[in-house]
Amino acid sequence: MPEKGIYLKFTENSLIFRDMSNKAVIYFSRNGSTKGAAALLARRLEAELIELTPERKTGFLRSGYMASRKKRVGLEGDPWAQCRDKELLVLGSPVWAGNGTPAVNAFLDKADLKDKRVYLYLFQADPKLGSAPGVLEYLKGRVENAGGTVAGTLALHGASPGKTAPEEQYRSQLESWEIEG
Ligand SMILES: Cc1cc2nc3c(=O)[nH]c(=O)nc-3n(C[C@H](O)[C@H](O)[C@H](O)COP(=O)(O)O)c2cc1C
Repeated sequence: MPEKGIYLKFTENSLIFRDMSNKAVIYFSRNGSTKGAAALLARRLEAELIELTPERKTGFLRSGYMASRKKRVGLEGDPWAQCRDKELLVLGSPVWAGNGTPAVNAFLDKADLKDKRVYLYLFQADPKLGSAPGVLEYLKGRVENAGGTVAGTLALHGASPGKTAPEEQYRSQLESWEIEG
């Protein structure tokens, strides 16, 4: 059996797809910057890529309001089951209204992160990354409450709302981000 990668298992009457990687990059992204970084990280770490998808999309103002109140949204699928067997998680979010995002809040509400090492990264429009320390502190507290350990954090400059940061803008920062697999 391979140590990592996807493999197929044939049983009497079913075909089971399994991902043997013990790492996952899990993220929410509205305009693609956090998503682009997640794809690069997943490739580098040979990690499973898990997107948090809200059941309903909210408009700009409502999104900002919900984020500022640290609210959550319903998520499609079962991202909690997808990262149950992982030992290392990289969790990515944009900053919204000086906070994290409702999708990431929803994930953390039900996540069991016991014995998991978690790396956090953020994107925000403000090039001075003014909100990032506070948001990272908040997310760190939530990870720890869920039993996990935060092993590293990274704040990145994204794009203005509605725009997507080009990969060249953050690629080298991601490549030099130390993540112990
Ligand atoms: C609803 C909303 C609120 C935002 N609030 C902030 C903010 O408070 N500070 C900031 O620097 N950027 C803010 N942004 C900009 C995003 O953080 C930025 O566009 C980021 O690159 C988005 O990542 P994404 O492309 O993965 O969605 C906001 C964007 C949206 C949609």
